[in-house]
Amino acid sequence: MDIKIQHLTKSYGFQKAVDDISFSVSTGEILGFLGPNGAGKTTTMKMITNYIPMDTGEVLIDGRSVQTGEMQRHIGYLPENNPLYPEMPVMDYLAFCAALQRVPKADIPQRVREMVRVCGLDIEKHKKIGELSKGYRQRVGLAQAMIHDPAILILDEPTTGLDPNQIVEIRELIRQLGRQKTVILSTHILPEVEVTCDRILIINRGKIVADGTAETLRAQAQGQQVLHARIEDGEPGEILQALQALPSVALVDFLDGAAGSGFLIESRPNQSSNRAVFQLCVQRKWTLCELIPFETRLEDIFRNLTMN
Ligand SMILES: Nc1ncnc2c1ncn2[C@@H]1O[C@H](COP(=O)(O)OP(=O)(O)OP(=O)(O)O)[C@@H](O)[C@H]1O
Ligand SMILES: [Mg+2]
Repeated sequence: MDIKIQHLTKSYGFQKAVDDISFSVSTGEILGFLGPNGAGKTTTMKMITNYIPMDTGEVLIDGRSVQTGEMQRHIGYLPENNPLYPEMPVMDYLAFCAALQRVPKADIPQRVREMVRVCGLDIEKHKKIGELSKGYRQRVGLAQAMIHDPAILILDEPTTGLDPNQIVEIRELIRQLGRQKTVILSTHILPEVEVTCDRILIINRGKIVADGTAETLRAQAQGQQVLHARIEDGEPGEILQALQALPSVALVDFLDGAAGSGFLIESRPNQSSNRAVFQLCVQRKWTLCELIPFETRLEDIFRNLTMN
């Protein structure tokens, strides 16, 4: 099922928490929703799930408004402060959620078992929710979001509080689910967004400041090609000068840090310098030990877009 968000706006008092945002997500797509604290991620997700009303705008699921309440059964939602009932045992709670989501009665035990397995809840399944550790409570939250096998998953920081093993498992699960479903997840873990998501949306102060794949965001941020070259058997000053003299090269920097030394070579717009660098080294009998594209880190892109 597709989600279409059109001109969504929400204010709290004088503050615009979400300010006229529009985007779409298609079936089979996993969208990573990034933004600094207070950017409006949770508020947007609450409006998509019809948990809070929007001021203006519309959220359409397969062309139908969420405000009718009819589309809610197609959505699985993991809220930020995952509200669970502390007195309820895990299994009862999941069965209760399944019933609320109108899973046919006969299918409930099987669905609950499946979610216990998928979310790694087996050893804690007989405890009361209030007795669980933070990570296990998060797993219960994920299980309840998926219990009715919804076509759309809205997950607000799904891996918060999970241990590294479980993070890997949940990521893998989201990737698998994402093949048939439509997934929007928010996170502050930037490497996670690169491995899990097909597309990244960055929001700042209620407005969308970037929308694209990690590669397209990098290309936009970087502009021109930057190469990292490790060149040996030559005098660094001489190498620097020779690199700088190459016609395709705009700028060269010598780096000498903990990660090793090397040259950072920025090409002129729309040019690449790989061949020229290689041929220069051959000519001068320098050893080219490494020549790799230097990628702008997602962290840097994020900071650039959200630090104002
Ligand atoms: N119920 C509320 N009443 C008043 N202001 C609110 C309410 N909920 C959210 N806000 C404000 O709206 C803005 C956006 O909050 P939101 O929770 O959507 O941010 P977020 O991007 O999810 O942040 P975080 O990364 O910290 O979870 C914040 O400035 C917040 O203080
Ligand atoms: Mg939030």
